[in-house]
Parts: sequence; C-alpha cells; structure tokens
Amino acid sequence: MSLRLRRISEAQCAVTLSTGAQVDPREGTVLHVPGGHLSLEPQRQNESLRMAVQPRNFMRSGSTRIRRIFASDLKHVISDLVDVFTDTVNGGSQLGFLPPITRDEARDYWISLFPELATGSRLVFVAFNGDRVVGSGQLALSQRTNSPHRAEVQRLFVARGFRGQGVGKLLMYALHDTAREHGRSLISLSTRRGEPAEEFYKRLGYVEAGVIPGWTIGPAGERYDHVTLYQELGRFQHSGW
Ligand SMILES: CC(C)(COP(=O)(O)OP(=O)(O)OC[C@H]1O[C@@H](n2cnc3c(N)ncnc32)[C@H](O)[C@@H]1OP(=O)(O)O)[C@@H](O)C(=O)NCCC(=O)NCCS
Repeated sequence: MSLRLRRISEAQCAVTLSTGAQVDPREGTVLHVPGGHLSLEPQRQNESLRMAVQPRNFMRSGSTRIRRIFASDLKHVISDLVDVFTDTVNGGSQLGFLPPITRDEARDYWISLFPELATGSRLVFVAFNGDRVVGSGQLALSQRTNSPHRAEVQRLFVARGFRGQGVGKLLMYALHDTAREHGRSLISLSTRRGEPAEEFYKRLGYVEAGVIPGWTIGPAGERYDHVTLYQELGRFQHSGW
C-alpha cells in the first residue's frame, strides 16, 4: 500500500510506520506501508493520529484500480482475463503464444498458473476500470538460491480500448513496488524487438541488455528478434498512486 502525505496542520509530522521505522515526513512523500497501520504524530502538538490503511493488494489511480490476484481469486476474474488475453494475442501481441488462439487455450493457460500462484512464486496483478478487467501483468520471482534479488516481468497487457491511458504504467508500478517488497531489485523482461512495448519499457527506465535474433516465430514461420531489458530498481516507490 502506498500513501501520499498531505499536510494536516502547520505542524511538522514525524511519521512512524507500524514497523517502528521513521520516514521522511515532507508533504507529497509517498509511503510504502506493508499492511497494518500508519501513525502520524505531530511533533508540535501532543496528539497522535492513527489511520488504518487498505491491504497491499488494492491500489487506485483515477478510475483504474490495480489488484493483486491470489489463487483463490482466480475463478472470479478468469473469464474476463481470458477475453482480454485472447484479444491481445490474436491482435498481434503474442505473449508467449502463436496466434490465433482460442478462449479454451487461453483459459488453460490461466488455470496452469494456479500452482505458482498458490506457492507465491508468481504474482499476478489485474487492472480494473470499474468492474471491467482492462489489463494484467505478472512478476515471476526467481526461486534459485543464487538470485533471490531477481524477478521477471511477464505477460503485461492492456485491453486494446484502454491503451495509451496510463494503465500499463500503473501495472508496472504495482509490479515494481511488489518486487521491492519481496526484496527483488533486479528486474528483467523480454519483448519483441521494434514493437511498441520496447519503447514503453525504455520510458520506464529499462535498459537494453541485448538482442536474440529469431527468438520466436509467427504464424507463417517467420522469425522475430527479441530484446532483453533490465532495470535495477531504486529504493523508493513510484509516486504515481
Ligand atoms: C505495452 C502496453 C502494455 C502499454 O500499456 P499502455 O497502457 O498502453 O501504456 P501507458 O498508457 O501506460 O503508457 C506509458 C508510457 O509509455 C508510452 N507508450 C505507451 N505505448 C507506447 C507506444 N506504442 N509507443 C511509444 N510509447 C508508448 C506512453 O506514451 C507513456 O509515456 P509517458 O509516461 O512518457 O507519457 C500495451 O500497449 C499493450 O498491452 N500492448 C500489447 C501487449 C504487449 O505488447 N505487451 C508487452 C509484452 S512484453
């Protein structure tokens, strides 16, 4: 959960998290609160203000909400996810599939995620506009003992009618913030070279590590180069919430 500080009085506030940690109290600071309570304690007045915060799996910006989907939630959103996913793949963004795909194939894919969702090695976020699913993105947490600092962004997509409105960026913020929570600072991903997503990721600070020629194939057997991108995340959360 992130909170943007607002001035509540002329007094300066010392901000203490439930962990006991003190944070920068400047107005506009965005705080990361891993659930529980935030305590705002005005230094010049002897009163304290406590407010409960929403659980970490609920974030909002404008009309877009980003929610982390747990294994037990999947059944509630799978049908909508399948719709948007199928349309995205068949619209030309492969997301690991060879188009065209059927809804059944897409559904099987989402069901196949269940074990990793249950163990927490894969984290799935869904973007909602009202009750409508408008996008999703995943974070695969490395399970190897020599890379507990690494995670990979996978299968990021936004419904065609909702692109260019900041939804993809919000999903990435959620993935980055969650990666930090899990101690993952080095984030990597792979995307088809020359596609719009490459520029999207670079605007978010991703750096090109290299290109693998002919990494995937298209419906006619044509080969596509893919670019591997990475980013070392800073300590602080995004201020986009
Ligand atoms: C890539 C994708 C997720 C981006 O989501 P989006 O909601 O359209 O992107 P946003 O509106 O959040 O844009 C964020 C930034 O990226 C830029 N951007 C988005 N699409 C862009 C494009 N096609 N070309 C250049 N820049 C682009 C935006 O201008 C914006 O920049 P700003 O913050 O400087 O204003 C979306 O286009 C998509 O679903 N594409 C199909 C699936 C796909 O290719 N996924 C990636 C697989 S690796």
